[in-house]
Amino acid sequence: MKAVLERGTVEGRPHAALTGGDGMVTRQETVQERVANSTLAQIRDVDIDDVLDYLHADLKKLPDYLDLYRRYLRQRWDVYELDFGQDAIDWRTRMSAEERTAFVAISSGFHHGERQVEVELPVFMLGGSEESKIYMSSQIEDEARHTIFFDRFYREVVALPGTSIQDVLDASYPHVSETFVGPFGLLAHQADELRRDPEDPAARVRYGTTYFLWIEGVLALSVMKITLSYCRTRKLLPAYYSGFTATCRDEARHVQGGMRILRDAVQSDPAMLHEIHETLRTILRMNGAVSRRLALESLGWTPEEVRRLMIRQLTMKLSDVGIDLPPDLREQIDRLQPELAGG
Ligand SMILES: [Fe+2]
Ligand SMILES: [Fe+2]
Repeated sequence: MKAVLERGTVEGRPHAALTGGDGMVTRQETVQERVANSTLAQIRDVDIDDVLDYLHADLKKLPDYLDLYRRYLRQRWDVYELDFGQDAIDWRTRMSAEERTAFVAISSGFHHGERQVEVELPVFMLGGSEESKIYMSSQIEDEARHTIFFDRFYREVVALPGTSIQDVLDASYPHVSETFVGPFGLLAHQADELRRDPEDPAARVRYGTTYFLWIEGVLALSVMKITLSYCRTRKLLPAYYSGFTATCRDEARHVQGGMRILRDAVQSDPAMLHEIHETLRTILRMNGAVSRRLALESLGWTPEEVRRLMIRQLTMKLSDVGIDLPPDLREQIDRLQPELAGG
């Protein structure tokens, strides 16, 4: 009996009921199942908050690498299926110059961030268990697809010039904010360190803290929440909304896989907790170092709201995975500044 989906509302939140061919409701599909199982066309109806809940739901038990790989095979989406036609019209006619400037400023870090992790992850994949290598191959492909997603967005919607991927990256680079330099410069340094010995557990933990915990778990998810809420509230940029929500679902796997890497490293050698703390101290010291603030008010976000969002994203991951913090780091987190970069 083929199951069909019917839309409805439960406790004010959208859900779908699974019904048999005879129309009898067999059981309700949970919001999380809907996030997990949506096709690219269906994901247009999914709310970013539900994707963030979906990400955190599994953090306490942490799926293993092959579970994540199997999930990747089911969730992989075709970036060339997106039609940016309406987005291009929205961009020209329904967004103010201020909104476009803020949107490009916050998205350009993502454009360059996706490309950077796509080319630096292979170093990480050289180390670790065979299962983790299989899983990591899927994350590399995800990051490559996310790079293409932004390449298409910048060509077809923002209308940046260029014929090659590098041309378009060069054209968006002037819009990258200076806050990109800190975390992504640190990651480049750590990737280089890892290249010398991909099995070095401390180097893997330092790289993993910067990339999986801070860049993906905090910066990327915060940018996703901000831009996707703006698109949803204003009913703008439908292909961007679908592709970036699907990207966020991919990030759920990356953050879960990354937190597993960190948790397993600490379990096999408690000294690795020190490496996580030291890396976080460095990241948090750099976080507020900025001479020009990125203004997101035109997208509907005050600095204090962005700050609270970032703190929440960071503390949820740490507490779910059981990474304790010393008092000085807790104070540093309390003083966190609302400065975002890509993811
Ligand atoms: Fe990505
Ligand atoms: Fe990612």
